[in-house]
Amino acid sequence: MLTADGAVHRRRRSPFTRAFAARLMTELRPQLRRSAEHLIEAWEPGETIDFVVGFASRLPAQAIAGLLGLPLRDIPRFTELAYSASRLLSFSYAPEDIPGMEADMTGLRTYAEELLADRRAAPRDDFLSTFLHDAEQEGELSPAEIVVQVITMIIGGTDTTRGAMASQLASLLQHRAQWQAVCRDPALVRPAVNEALRYEPSVASTSRLAQEDIDLDGVKLPAGQLITFALISALRDERVYKDPDVFDIHRTDHVRLHPVFGAGPHRCLGEALARAELEEGLAALAARVPELEMVGEPFSLRGHFGIRRVGAMRVRRPH
Ligand code: HEM
Repeated sequence: MLTADGAVHRRRRSPFTRAFAARLMTELRPQLRRSAEHLIEAWEPGETIDFVVGFASRLPAQAIAGLLGLPLRDIPRFTELAYSASRLLSFSYAPEDIPGMEADMTGLRTYAEELLADRRAAPRDDFLSTFLHDAEQEGELSPAEIVVQVITMIIGGTDTTRGAMASQLASLLQHRAQWQAVCRDPALVRPAVNEALRYEPSVASTSRLAQEDIDLDGVKLPAGQLITFALISALRDERVYKDPDVFDIHRTDHVRLHPVFGAGPHRCLGEALARAELEEGLAALAARVPELEMVGEPFSLRGHFGIRRVGAMRVRRPH
């Protein structure tokens, strides 16, 4: 899906567009809120946790598992494989990391193949069974394409949102007055998520290959050239955003289609899901643990290409 154009891209993407439509994601919100509250309840007062492990990675993994119909007990397996394999989309690896990443991508493929074989043998009332049945009936996707689309959804649905979830809490806790404002007024959750996605995005860039020679401001980009669109720069464009380096949840100059989700036919398929997770997750935290504080090293998202790498984030829930 991510690497195809035109009719091939549409054929690969269309089985997912209905399942990830904004209306269905809205219906999912109460469930996401409950999942977020359960994660917070498991957290003892006085306890310090790595927020990335204990919350930011779990909510997206539970959501994508629920949507696709993956068993919850598989979460540790598919998330670890996805976080490793997704480094391919970041360029943040060294040559010696490549064998491990390839092994984990193979692990993810084996996992997807097992799931599909299971649904083929015993179809259930879930997305995966319907997707597989329709794809095999219509014959529009080859067996390899079916497997790769499932892998794409698992990677797309886990790594990006865990980074964004941690990043939004870090930005708010580092701007304490704005965090307190969100805790007092739930109407600020949505603007806070929007601003956090702009200020410290979990995806830094998208890429394309030039199909023909392009003349850009006097610079020639030859056909076949890999081009990187720096979302991370566009999100701080001083011609669009006033004081772009300032984190301000009250800003009124956000553009209608948030650039962090890309543009054109490949614009993020999971935007509505990501927003539902980020907003419900933040709303639950603001309501339940307004006294939260960050401890130790400040959280960071690393890299300026593709999916950014997520560090640790220690937070404490005071007594
Ligand atoms: C904050 C979270 C997220 C961000 C910042 C993000 C960002 C993006 C961006 C920039 C693209 C465009 C890539 C390109 O043009 O080459 C994209 C595509 C995609 N995203 Fe997301 N995404 C997020 C969450 C999700 C989630 C939760 C899913 C879950 C299913 C998802 C699934 C996808 C898929 C399948 C594509 C490929 C679409 C296509 O090629 O047609 N994303 N995302």
